[in-house]
Amino acid sequence: MERGNHNINNIENNDITQILNIIKSACRTISYVIKMSNNISLSKSKNKTNVSGDVINKIDDIANEILIYELKHCPLIKNIASEEEKYIISTNYNNGKYLVCFDPLDGSSNIDINITTGTIFTIFKYDNDRDDKINDGNNIVASGYSLYSGSTQLIICDNNKVSQYQLIDYTFQLINDNIKIPIKGNFYSINDSLSEKWTDKRYTTLINEFKEDCYSTRWVGSLVADAHRTLIKGGFFAYPENTSNKEGKIRLLYEAYPFAHIFKIAGGKSSNGLIDNVLNIPFPKNIHQKTTIILSSPEEYNKFINTN
Ligand code: AHG
Ligand code: MN
Ligand code: MN
Repeated sequence: MERGNHNINNIENNDITQILNIIKSACRTISYVIKMSNNISLSKSKNKTNVSGDVINKIDDIANEILIYELKHCPLIKNIASEEEKYIISTNYNNGKYLVCFDPLDGSSNIDINITTGTIFTIFKYDNDRDDKINDGNNIVASGYSLYSGSTQLIICDNNKVSQYQLIDYTFQLINDNIKIPIKGNFYSINDSLSEKWTDKRYTTLINEFKEDCYSTRWVGSLVADAHRTLIKGGFFAYPENTSNKEGKIRLLYEAYPFAHIFKIAGGKSSNGLIDNVLNIPFPKNIHQKTTIILSSPEEYNKFINTN
């Protein structure tokens, strides 16, 4: 059996199951907080911004604390990286073999209007024979995301497949054991209001082509929701670099890598517009490094690479 480029064994499988169980439990708690709280108060600003310059809301902090609290006691985990923490957090377990990265609450600007948010996560295994280094996204052994929406769902990519669970009666029950992205879809998903600011004009040409081909546009403004729809229904999602966000807006470590891993295993494509497969982008020196991102069905991706 193979996970990404890594051969896995039973011990590694057990490790990953253990870490995923902790993340599942944290997602269940976050979901409970969102469902049982006044969402307008959860959206209140903490009057501080994170490293990426985003305003931190109360729920961003709560979700971050829940995940860190649950993960930092796991002896398998050496380091933790979060959107809401300036630096990598080292646990007390220096012999841990894994790095866990997450966006505790993606789409938090949508929380007050009761629109889908989620937690995005990924688990990297350090290369023991390379002095505990991580080369790139191919060191990922599992990744996934939750969706806090009409129902709470969890998508997990491990063991070379993508599975979907739904929180029913306090447990995550399997509802789809092998998600595959359609070869082609009918939607494109991009923040069109920024089109004048896109520095790579291929996106303008491509979107015009989609319009001519009668595609519909969809934009929630939560990566989890927009990427999830693209995964299930097919089509094209992108957040290109623009004059205000010269490197794009999506963070490589805990947003782009996990979705690239999920899309690859589900038969889809990812890119930063230059490098095919986001997993091949070298591991960032700055854990909050941003990147342009494309997540797509194969057919729409072919259209993109044939666009001048
Ligand atoms: P986060 O809420 O974790 O900071 O992420 C927000 C991201 C992503 O979810 C979404 O795709 C994008 O910001 C939306 O950006 P625009 O507001 O520019 O459309
Ligand atoms: Mn996010
Ligand atoms: Mn976030």
